[in-house]
Amino acid sequence: MINLRIISLLLFTCIGLIACGSDGGHQVDKSKLPDKQEDNNQQEKLTEFTPVTVASLKEGVDFPIGVAVPAGNYGSSILLSEERQNLAIQHFNQLSAENIMKMDALHPTQDTFNFTDADNLVNFASNNGLSMHGHVLVWHSQTASWMRSFTGDKQAWIEMMENHVTTVATHFAGRLKSWDVVNEAFLDDGNYRNTGDSGSIWYQNIGAEFIERAFIAARAADPDAELYYNDYNLSSSAAKLGAVVNMVKDFQNRNIPIDGVGFQMHISGNYPGISAIKAQFQKVVDLGIKVKITELDIRMNTAENLDELTPDIAEKQKKRYYDVISAYLTTVPSAQRGGITVWGISDVDSWIIGLYDSPDWPLLFNAEFEGKPALQGVADALAEFK
Ligand code: G3I
Repeated sequence: MINLRIISLLLFTCIGLIACGSDGGHQVDKSKLPDKQEDNNQQEKLTEFTPVTVASLKEGVDFPIGVAVPAGNYGSSILLSEERQNLAIQHFNQLSAENIMKMDALHPTQDTFNFTDADNLVNFASNNGLSMHGHVLVWHSQTASWMRSFTGDKQAWIEMMENHVTTVATHFAGRLKSWDVVNEAFLDDGNYRNTGDSGSIWYQNIGAEFIERAFIAARAADPDAELYYNDYNLSSSAAKLGAVVNMVKDFQNRNIPIDGVGFQMHISGNYPGISAIKAQFQKVVDLGIKVKITELDIRMNTAENLDELTPDIAEKQKKRYYDVISAYLTTVPSAQRGGITVWGISDVDSWIIGLYDSPDWPLLFNAEFEGKPALQGVADALAEFK
């Protein structure tokens, strides 16, 4: 029997799919989704599992336990949501801006920077004792439209990119613990991201040196911030991580500043395997720099074709979160732990919702902001291995 809660969740998902359009865009426009209906009558719980209560994930942890949050005027903005604020303050000691510190948000026209939304988020974090991880100074995606139509020789492109990095990093200097300086510069085969649909205007117009130039400019603007290279599939692709490791070694040999590597870890319930994840972490640990899980979410419906999170799948997700966090803590020495960040608070906020035909539940809290078994999995791993 499909109860009203399932229908409303499926409605969220169906509207999400429509809002995404044909390109399967990452994010559902939350403003088009119905507000969370007051659950006035005693409807059956959507799933059978009992909501999990954990005092605080960050309790007793001496490294960043972070969460990515929508901010600004997005429908799910943490600054407009008491539930999201309460959970962020209760469980996390660091925030990442999911979108509002990206190039298109901060630098909408060549001559204007807009820091208002980002400053409001940084102030919220600071006022509540949370640090900030900056995401992201240079990325091939979510560039401002004027950047994509910018014309000039290599030196002009260098100056344009360096002006962005310097202006932004200077603005936040002293207020951010760390930055994703460059995101996703490599392909899974280890080559530089260059042309094609997900090509990089930075590589195309500056060459591979755009990466080191971004790190040099970021260090000059904010000497105290930890500087990360961030990418996805680093926990699964030996070729991609190999290219990153070679880049880090080259930077270390030439005194190009870099402090760590960010493993995004948008993973599924069974891939990559834990031994592979540990082995990939170890390759960066061996470089003597920090390892940070920057965007963790765990899809559980990649092949199951479920229309609701069953207790069985919820328990599997709990174990998967426990295993991944344990792998990190047992592989990365405490001095090299850049931290662990989950990419969103509630399942309804996840970029994954609407990305695929079937629903998913990748995060620690459900649509009602109740703790899922996954929350307990993280708490158990932290308690055991921190
Ligand atoms: O702001 C517009 C809004 O005006 C419009 O109505 C709405 C509907 O189209 O789109 C809104 O912009 C969306 C934006 O999220 C804010 O919601 C973009 O279309 C959408 O593409 C964007 O998705 C973000 C995605 O990065 C872009 O690639 C996701 O929220 C964000 O979670 C995701 O995060 C990335 C990391 O930055 C890098 N690593 C991968 C990760 C997942 O893709």
